[in-house]
Amino acid sequence: MKKRVLSLMLTAIMAMGLAVGCGPADTGAPADTAADTSAETSDDGGADKAASTGKKVAVAMPTQSSERWINDGSNMKQKLEALGYEVDLQYAEDDVQAQVSQIENMIAAGADCLVIAAVDSSALVNVEAQAKEAGIPIIAYDRLLMDTDAVSYYATFDNKGVGTAIGKYIEESKDLANTSETYTIEFFMGSPDDNNAVMLYNGLMEVLQPYLDDGTLVCKSGRTSFEDTCILRWSQETAQQNCENYLTGFYANDKLDICATAFDGFAYGCKAALEGAGYKVGEDWPLITGQDAELMATKNIIAGSQTMSIYKDTRLLADKCVTMVQAVLEGSEPEINDKEQYDNGKLVVPSYLCTPVAVDKDNYKKIIVDGGYYTEEQLAE
Ligand code: GAL
Repeated sequence: MKKRVLSLMLTAIMAMGLAVGCGPADTGAPADTAADTSAETSDDGGADKAASTGKKVAVAMPTQSSERWINDGSNMKQKLEALGYEVDLQYAEDDVQAQVSQIENMIAAGADCLVIAAVDSSALVNVEAQAKEAGIPIIAYDRLLMDTDAVSYYATFDNKGVGTAIGKYIEESKDLANTSETYTIEFFMGSPDDNNAVMLYNGLMEVLQPYLDDGTLVCKSGRTSFEDTCILRWSQETAQQNCENYLTGFYANDKLDICATAFDGFAYGCKAALEGAGYKVGEDWPLITGQDAELMATKNIIAGSQTMSIYKDTRLLADKCVTMVQAVLEGSEPEINDKEQYDNGKLVVPSYLCTPVAVDKDNYKKIIVDGGYYTEEQLAE
């Protein structure tokens, strides 16, 4: 009889433990032993996870509308978790206000470090000041954070180098330095609220401006300045619309030979516009440039509907960014290779610039497949 009462009491205690959610419910352990097991699970964290540092890193990403940022976010999460950080990863879907609120919530939720790839690089000044006030260091991810002194480090690619590489690719493909031909060209540049876009434009024009000046390149729309060719929020739809307008407005008689675009998303937009206007791959299809070497872009390169892209290994970028997170949280020294170029209006942000690489159908296997970025199977799907 006594035994039965005891066992009923134990069952009741266990049920209470489960109901109030104390301890790891799935172990079914009585409430009074739960604390021990919970300490065990969080410290150990499984065979391939590092011991928890007890620190939380919040990662604010701009959008999931393009594949690259999805990869950037998951690389960062995986690498930070492997080092024992708790990660709060959020996407703002290109909505400036949404990103501001997300960062406010990250601060309120006790983040120890913020990693930010901004939707609008100048729109976060207030929330960055709040972070500084709360003693939370900030790392700028791929896009520079402008007009703030709250940013500690910046991990990115050589953005001017991206523009130069695109320009050189066009120059060499069309042998601009030696040809007696003229080529028509239109420009599709990045978002005016993203410092990367301006730097890319400057690098591109450093190579191409002489050919526009001497008439080797002819831009029939006359739109060659950054102001005239930039596309807000890197919108694929706007790129398509612009390309359609150029084709109907200026290329009814002449063919368009080159779409100089700053982003794979723009290359997709141009592709759709060109198909709509009756251009055919392998016949009169223009040279189309891009940036990011997204999976779809790489497939298009193989199929011939995009000519090249700039491969930016997001795994490498995440690695560099993680060393910066460790530096601000653990007091280590991150590798820095640029202390001059990235003046955000308040300070020159110590940066690490990864090297961008131009890829096309001739070298994608060596660079992208052998580099383990995409498999042949993924590219064949
Ligand atoms: C830029 C970045 C590019 C591209 C673009 C659109 O900031 O430098 O690589 O991803 O955003 O997402």
